Amino acid sequence: MNDLAAQLRHELAGQIGSPRWRAALESVPREVFVGDHVFRDDTAEWVPMHRSQMSSEDWLALVYSDRSLVTQVAGVMAEDATEPIAYAWATSSSTLPSLVVSMLHTAGISAGDKVLEIGTGTGYSTALLCHTIGAEAVTSIEYDPEVARRAEAAIVAAGYAPTLLVGDGLRGFNENAPYDRLIATCAVRTIPPVWLRQVRPGGTITAPMLGWLGAGALAHLEVADDGTASGTFPDIVYFQPARPHAAPPMGTMKLGVGDVSHTTMDPALLTDQTGQFVAQLAAPQAQHAWIENTLALHDVESGSHADVEPADAGGWTVHQSGPNRLWDAVERALTTWMDAGKLNLSAFGLTATQNEQRVWLGSPDGPTWDLPRAGA
Ligand SMILES: C[S@@+](CC[C@H](N)C(=O)[O-])C[C@H]1O[C@@H](n2cnc3c(N)ncnc32)[C@H](O)[C@@H]1O
Repeated sequence: MNDLAAQLRHELAGQIGSPRWRAALESVPREVFVGDHVFRDDTAEWVPMHRSQMSSEDWLALVYSDRSLVTQVAGVMAEDATEPIAYAWATSSSTLPSLVVSMLHTAGISAGDKVLEIGTGTGYSTALLCHTIGAEAVTSIEYDPEVARRAEAAIVAAGYAPTLLVGDGLRGFNENAPYDRLIATCAVRTIPPVWLRQVRPGGTITAPMLGWLGAGALAHLEVADDGTASGTFPDIVYFQPARPHAAPPMGTMKLGVGDVSHTTMDPALLTDQTGQFVAQLAAPQAQHAWIENTLALHDVESGSHADVEPADAGGWTVHQSGPNRLWDAVERALTTWMDAGKLNLSAFGLTATQNEQRVWLGSPDGPTWDLPRAGA
């Protein structure tokens, strides 16, 4: 059986094809980190799968497939799930290995670096780090105590002893600072300013970002001597939100109320990844839903609402209510983006200081949008 696991590890490492991370991929037993229970995504529900219900070969093939394996949904561990869980979010998983490695590459991690990882999850990526740069150089923080407990058991079983902490990674861990690299495996809405203080000048922060309109992007920032950080978005990625940064429940909303106006800006631009990213910059407190072909934007905190539906005579009819005109803000940002040539995500960048975080288009002097203030 061990031979089969080793063979599958070898194949996975070959498929991923990273010389720097190959030895770790060949050594770290993912089955130890995944455990014996995962959830399968079955459209509207998460179905628990148990190792005892499958042949060992099939289980190992699943474990060594280049897929994310969800181990917790809405706070329920797969081990404890007796029936499918419907309409809920995954809250912990082992990210697909190729994406883990791609992010480690983006972060530029190599021997000699001291690394802070946010989101231990199953501990698999933590173990890859330990194998490659040495456990004494690795600090990893997990928010969920049960997830952290299992990760620690797996990391110890695999023979590594990094610094493992249970808590909110958005606060970092000052005791082991300064770090050369900070890498997050959960998504933030805004870069916690405390991270800028815990990474040394010249060090980097690599973090998935996810706003409440659902647009995701990987931010890769370098910290300057003055403690500011700036960089770009080299990839589009979607990670589970960092727990304190998740959107509040959307609640109920009413369509077709408030001031009426007309627009020629197609709301379907929000189905384009960059269009959605731009809209999110303009209305960071808003969440959205499509009700057939009507776009609804809703800001729970301020009670602002907008909906945009096709008009019989062409264009779209807009209803807006509450203190913030959500569609107007989105339309302005989309116009700016379209006027600049509808550039894709690689044209955007982020500058973060202790007091503000600004996403820019083209260059720091180009059009800018402020990210919401959140976290430590
Ligand atoms: C995608 S999983 C991590 C995958 C992990 N690196 C692996 O290889 O298994 C994201 C993890 O981030 C954790 N998390 C969410 N918010 C967090 C926070 N504020 N601080 C630390 N961990 C957090 C979640 O509980 C979850 O376990």
